[in-house]
Amino acid sequence: MRWLPRLPLAGGYFCGECKKIQPIPSKNLFEYIGVESKFALNDDELKKKFRDLQMRMHPDKFAHTSDIERSISGEHSRMLNTAMKTLGEPLERAKYLLETEGRESIGEVEKSHLAPEELMEVLDWQESVAEMEDESMLQEEKSNVKKEIATAMKTLDGQLTSKDWKASKRTVIRLQYLYSIRTAVDKKIERTFSRTLFGETTLETPGVWKNICRDPSDEYAMCRAHHRFARKDPCSCANGDEVQVSHYALRWHVHFPLKMLIGSVTLTAKVLKTTQHVWLDVRDLSIRSVTVCGKNADFRIAPNVYTFFGSRMKIYLPVDCQREGQELEIVIDYSTSPDASALQWMKKEQTQDKKAPYLFSQCQAIHARSIMPCMDTPSIKSTYDAQVTVPAGSTCLMSAINEGSKGTDEETTFFFKQPVAIPSYLLAIVVGVLAKRDISDRCAVWAEPSMVEKAHWEFNETEDILATAEKIAGKYIWGRYDMVCLPPTFPFGGMENPCLTFLTPTLISGDRSLVSVIAHEIAHSWSGNLVTNKSWEHFWLNEGFTMFIERKICGRLVNEKYRQFMSFNGWTNNLIPAVYEQFNPTHQFTRLIQDHENVDPDVAFSCVPYEKGSALLFYLEQKLGGPDVFEPYLRDYLSTFAHKAIDSFQWKDHLYKYFHDKKDILDTVNFDQCSGLRPMRLPLRLSPLSATKKMQPLQQIEFLSQLWQHDPPLEHYKLEALDALYKLNDSQNCEIVLNWIRVCIKAKWEKIIDKAIWFVESQGRLKYCRPVYRALYAWPVAQKRAKETYLRTRSEMHPITAEMIAKELHVRHSTHTVCF
Ligand code: BES
Ligand code: ZN
Repeated sequence: MRWLPRLPLAGGYFCGECKKIQPIPSKNLFEYIGVESKFALNDDELKKKFRDLQMRMHPDKFAHTSDIERSISGEHSRMLNTAMKTLGEPLERAKYLLETEGRESIGEVEKSHLAPEELMEVLDWQESVAEMEDESMLQEEKSNVKKEIATAMKTLDGQLTSKDWKASKRTVIRLQYLYSIRTAVDKKIERTFSRTLFGETTLETPGVWKNICRDPSDEYAMCRAHHRFARKDPCSCANGDEVQVSHYALRWHVHFPLKMLIGSVTLTAKVLKTTQHVWLDVRDLSIRSVTVCGKNADFRIAPNVYTFFGSRMKIYLPVDCQREGQELEIVIDYSTSPDASALQWMKKEQTQDKKAPYLFSQCQAIHARSIMPCMDTPSIKSTYDAQVTVPAGSTCLMSAINEGSKGTDEETTFFFKQPVAIPSYLLAIVVGVLAKRDISDRCAVWAEPSMVEKAHWEFNETEDILATAEKIAGKYIWGRYDMVCLPPTFPFGGMENPCLTFLTPTLISGDRSLVSVIAHEIAHSWSGNLVTNKSWEHFWLNEGFTMFIERKICGRLVNEKYRQFMSFNGWTNNLIPAVYEQFNPTHQFTRLIQDHENVDPDVAFSCVPYEKGSALLFYLEQKLGGPDVFEPYLRDYLSTFAHKAIDSFQWKDHLYKYFHDKKDILDTVNFDQCSGLRPMRLPLRLSPLSATKKMQPLQQIEFLSQLWQHDPPLEHYKLEALDALYKLNDSQNCEIVLNWIRVCIKAKWEKIIDKAIWFVESQGRLKYCRPVYRALYAWPVAQKRAKETYLRTRSEMHPITAEMIAKELHVRHSTHTVCF
């Protein structure tokens, strides 16, 4: 084989002789894709070339080739994506031509490049959009901007063709302004719509599916054509198509001084297609030995790439164990690293009661690989059992059924069994001094002894919630529904570990106002734990369905208006700011179905899959005939796919099959263009502030959130008055505190900095810490303190939180990775 990039290549990408993939032959994007270097490109030709190349270069095709070929195919993939992002969007394409041919670079919008009257025109325009409230005026404005953009594009084409770079640059800058006006109009329209809620469909309306396949390079559009390319989970190296792991048997010693789980895992597996290897995901594990069916087996761990992905572990199967149908027993002796990303090890001083050290895990999305070598993809489900030895006096809980314990004066061994096959991300463990309070025959709450009474009071309605969920979704199959209230550094509100939901103590507000989180985690017993997303790219199937069911449960427990109120809040308070402030409307993370090639699912995490997904279901429910029609569908969906892992295409196929007599209605939902979910009147209106002496906690949250989002920064005396009236600074309810802090930071009220710093130090829930750290970082007077606080406290944070906050603060945080 030769590595001579200068040789003529077959099609430019593969060696003419040995057909091996070759390094990138040209840096010019037009040449690379194989289209003429000009502005007026034929979109269809560009797309076709891109798709062909994408198919030929896809890293999956090189999964079993040499390291160098794999790395080259990765480079091609990245180059292709860059090429498509640049050439697929006319303005980007024009900038690229200007930079490469005209040697003109366009950085930030440079106002000086516009003629004064032109500048005045766009500024006036921006201002008038800002003041517009009327929907029909906004729609008219939208078509005006569209026309203006089309005209400017034509002009630009002429200027670029005649290589008039200076004039082209001016037009590009003008276009940038026009784009920003377009975004402002879209944003306004969306906000006007969201005052009411999800109604009729029109093609032009931006809506729930909006960005799902905007980008022509998007291979994840909801199109039939793409269905055929259903692909492997990009976040795992497991060869689940060749080897099926049906069971993991764990034997662990929990070693607090070393911060290690020391022991072994035995995988029960079967060869589905004759193969020489088993590929497992690992991260920072120290592997001592591997045997396969009693024989020592060789293994390799790919050089540690120091990324979220961890490493690939390749186990060489003995020659007589490679055939299709072969049953395998793979025993791996190993220990975890003190920096295992899934685990938080806490000294006893860090716990509430300060009696003994504490350990808890968080495996979702791809951290299970830091606890055990496994096929760490939600597309594969296995049962598990465990024997875990912990210091005497401590209790071990897992996401499984407890099968008793035995012990000595020194240590206790706990036995567990999870008889339902689950994806790896649902593996979970807690160790600490824990007390239990029963709620019903099948529900109990665990917490450190000093917290357990409060937790018991707060979560006392769990059995009712579970029984209501069963009426909506079907029988609860997991046996027990226990909850454990974790230390405040737990990064999430709740985590649906089967048989044992993990909860943040920030839910204990003393008024039961946040128990919708319990409804949420209970709902996952069906959507997520029973019907599971095949990869994190289809995360909305887990979370969108769960939000939808959560709100159905709350609707049943309170009333239908409440369900609408919560759905509306989700849209306005979460989705809209995420799409417009956290990201931007064309950002790939605002899509329902995402591309996670080289993407850390923790980074892609946002409320978008939750709220877009739930809104889509809410909308479909309305279109298809309301809850009486939709709830039987929901149960059919859940039972059809129970114990399976699916993608959005399978979801859509089933939807069409179930509603075959309503195909015409479904066809009006333009899944591919992601357009149009228009609102209907929201039946519930918030009582005006003056009319309510005492707002309910959820109304306060909504009120503050509206203030934060829609009102200009408040004068400081108003903040003082609000605080005096509602005692916001003293609130025990973290949702209220979060929104209050946001309102104050927006108003640049320096008095709030101490409170904000206290808030991010006192708990580690990402939902609270991320936005507050982000806002402090963006505020020059607070930036330094935000960084100092992070650096001072990060060793006590959960590794996932530490990693995410480092990104917000642009501080380097590389977890120490070891590879043996
Ligand atoms: N499964 C999620 C938490 C999660 C998602 C952890 C992705 C890691 C990666 C859980 O069910 C959840 O959604 N929690 C929410 C609660 C909520 C929306 C009521 C949270 O933590 O805020
Ligand atoms: Zn969830």
